[in-house]
This record gives sequence, C-alpha cells and structure tokens, in this order.
Amino acid sequence: MNVKEALLSTFAKAEGEYISGSALANKLGVSRNAVWKAVKSLESEGYCIESAAAKGYRLTPGNNHLAAGLILPRIKKGFPGGELQVYGEIDSTNSCAKKLASLGAPHGTVVIADKQTAGRGRLGRTFVSPSGTGIYMSIIIRPEFGIETAPLITSASAVAAAEAVEELCGSPVNIKWVNDLYMGGRKICGILTEASFGLEMKSLDFAVIGIGINVRRGNFPEELSHIATSVEEESGKVIDRNALCAAVIDHIADSISNIESRSFLTAYRQRELLTGNTITANVGGETLTGTALGVDDNANLIVRLEDGSERHLSSGEANLCRIK
Ligand code: BTN
Repeated sequence: MNVKEALLSTFAKAEGEYISGSALANKLGVSRNAVWKAVKSLESEGYCIESAAAKGYRLTPGNNHLAAGLILPRIKKGFPGGELQVYGEIDSTNSCAKKLASLGAPHGTVVIADKQTAGRGRLGRTFVSPSGTGIYMSIIIRPEFGIETAPLITSASAVAAAEAVEELCGSPVNIKWVNDLYMGGRKICGILTEASFGLEMKSLDFAVIGIGINVRRGNFPEELSHIATSVEEESGKVIDRNALCAAVIDHIADSISNIESRSFLTAYRQRELLTGNTITANVGGETLTGTALGVDDNANLIVRLEDGSERHLSSGEANLCRIK
C-alpha cells in the first residue's frame, strides 16, 4: 500500500474524526511532509480533505467522491481474491464486467461507476444512472454450485442488497418479486443478472450481478418520479456511497456462498410485497391476473389464477393490481 492508499484507509476507518499530522506520519512510517504531499495529491484527485490547526486532517463528512481507496478499507470479508475497479463514467458496469469475465477476470471482481451513460435494466429497458447520486455496481461470480441453483442468484442478491441498505440507513426495505427493492412504496434499486453458460448449458461459466441503487435524489426524468425514490429521501439519513458499496459487496459475497442452503428465502418472503395481493403478471407476452400466494423454494412466484389453477412463475414481471 502506498502513502495515499494508507492515508485513505486511515481516513475511512476514522469515520470523520480528525487525525493529527504527526499521528498520521507515525502510523504510516513517513515524514509529516510526506503526509502533507499525499493530502495535496488526493485533493487534486477529487477527495475533499479538511485540515484544522491543532486537530489535523479528516475526510470531509459528506464526501461524495466514490473511490476504491474508500471502499476497500470498509469491506469486512468480501470476495477473497476479487478485484475492484471504480470508474467516474462508463457505459454500463454490467457490459464492462461481462467483457472482463470473458477475458478471465476472477470470481469476486467488482466494477463500480459514479455514472453510467448506457445503464441497462431488465427486459431491455434503460436504467437512468446520473452522477453523484447512486451506486452502479456489477459483481462477477464464478460459482461452484450446480446449474439448478443459478435461478436463485437474482433473488439471493435482492435480499443481500436489501440487508446492506437497511444496515446503512436503518429503515426497512421491501422486495417486489423478482428483484426490485422498494422503500415507501417506490423503487430504490434494480438488479440485472446476466449469466454465461458452458457448453451444452450444463454448467454456469460466470454470472454478472448488476445492482443499481438510488442513494439520493437525482435528476430523474419526470415520468420516473412517481415510481422511483431514493434511500436518503425515504430514510432521512445521509448515506456514504463508499460505505454502501462495501456493505453490498459483503452481503452479496455472504449470500452467494450460502445460496445452496436457500436460507435467504426466509428473509425474501418477509420482505416480499406482492404476496397476498391481486396482481397482473406479464410472462412471455401473456398477461395473467390472479392472487400472489407467495414464493416457492425456487424463488418462483406462486399465483392462483381466476379459474382456481396455480402457476409458479419463474421470470417475467408482476405488478400490484389492488391491495387487499
Ligand atoms: C432493473 O431495474 O430493470 C434492473 C436495473 C439494473 C441496473 C444496474 S446498474 C449497474 C448494472 N449496470 C447496468 O447497466 N445495469 C445494472
């Protein structure tokens, strides 16, 4: 770790407390002048660092600069052996991660961007991804589990992302089947999982889990304002995007390594919004109306149709018709 990286790591762990120049110099084993130079260099890279006489330096609270140096020190376990790439602007973190994966990037490689110019959503939609307001993250996994477990990746990731958001903001997060996260009745997060299968579709080569979270109010198009909201608006808390990135990585790593136990389904069912309500579902071009009865052990949505028959939906999109 060089001086700048060590400095960032120390600032991130200090959570806004000042640290004196001499304490930093001692801790890092360099001169006070080297600390000062590293601070200046970090400032020129966009980090907001405050200095106060007799107190020292600290990362400005509310620092909104997304950076690997502020994410890595906060990851507790993560993916051992994984790499982290952070971009100011990119077309789509999922597209980038898929390219990296096809070139052999290891399990646990994470791509994060402050802004996406061509963010992609489910069902061919675009995902609006303005700068400074959200986190746009893609995680490459190369799972050892069998192909029959692959359909669970998306729902396990939804629980992981919900838990990470709750940990940071302290307010409850719901899941709308399959994998949209909601707060206060509006969407705060979408997940797009893309998989590459081995020959004859017998094994999963890799999957890219793409997560987009609205952290604070962004410049959303007017048509999104009644369906989308942000974590800060709903919780009233100021969220550090770097800390949220680290929490999402930790929770996803944990949920993927335990996925075969299906234990995440309990947390999924507790948060699921459609259950017990009349819904319409669009499945492969067909529109179904019925009552959502819950989620089965394969994370399929169980729907009782108007003729009394039951369907277990594995993909598609479902929406509330009316709340009971
Ligand atoms: C949806 O709600 O339809 C899913 C949205 C997924 C958006 C994320 S943002 C990070 C990653 N990169 C993308 O291009 N899409 C996903």
